[in-house]
Amino acid sequence: MNFREWKLPAYNDSQNDFETVRNILLSTWLDTYSKIIPSEELKAYLNISCSNEKLEELLKDKFTKGIIAEVNGKPVGWLRTNINQTEKKIYINQLYVLKEYQGKGIGKKLIKIAKEKALKNNFNKIWLGVMSENLPSVNWYKSLGFIFEEEIPFTMINTTVNHLFGWKEITK
Ligand SMILES: CC(C)(COP(=O)(O)OP(=O)(O)OC[C@H]1O[C@@H](n2cnc3c(N)ncnc32)[C@H](O)[C@@H]1OP(=O)(O)O)[C@@H](O)C(=O)NCCC(=O)NCCS
Repeated sequence: MNFREWKLPAYNDSQNDFETVRNILLSTWLDTYSKIIPSEELKAYLNISCSNEKLEELLKDKFTKGIIAEVNGKPVGWLRTNINQTEKKIYINQLYVLKEYQGKGIGKKLIKIAKEKALKNNFNKIWLGVMSENLPSVNWYKSLGFIFEEEIPFTMINTTVNHLFGWKEITK
């Protein structure tokens, strides 16, 4: 298992990290959300939110970090964190592990990487949002000590779903 920061795709790169991120998101979104949100909307939202231009903007933003998890050289997981300068909080924006690789400890290791980033920046909590209907993940986060206090609606193209927002206290 290997964890590395994503990088800007070069013209002659055999591995394009923007493609890798989109592939992981498409696969996990369809597996996880298609019972809740129509597949066409998920695909449309991916195209809007993960265009090359958007991803390049995120990659160049010093408050955003992206980590790709690999198993035997195959990209299988993705973590994106962001430090919100206004709120003075660190967020996990995206955490996804391909279905065949779930339950093998990869998600926990990615959370540990987010925790290390948070501690390095002197935060004592990590924040995140999770779709309320995504019960396996809500329960997974709860099992790791996340506390959800707020539920906020979010509209993806045409479908509105609730998101639970919460945090976990972190210590060294
Ligand atoms: C949620 C997700 C990131 C977790 O990553 P993962 O690699 O599957 O999780 P891990 O293998 O690291 O978790 C391992 C631990 O969680 C436990 N666990 C797994 N699923 C659980 C659940 N639904 N409820 C409680 N505990 C759970 C395991 O028993 C294991 O415990 P242990 O370490 O004590 O043995 C991953 O399953 C995923 O990508 N899911 C689909 C997409 C998604 O919903 N992402 C979150 C969007 S906000």
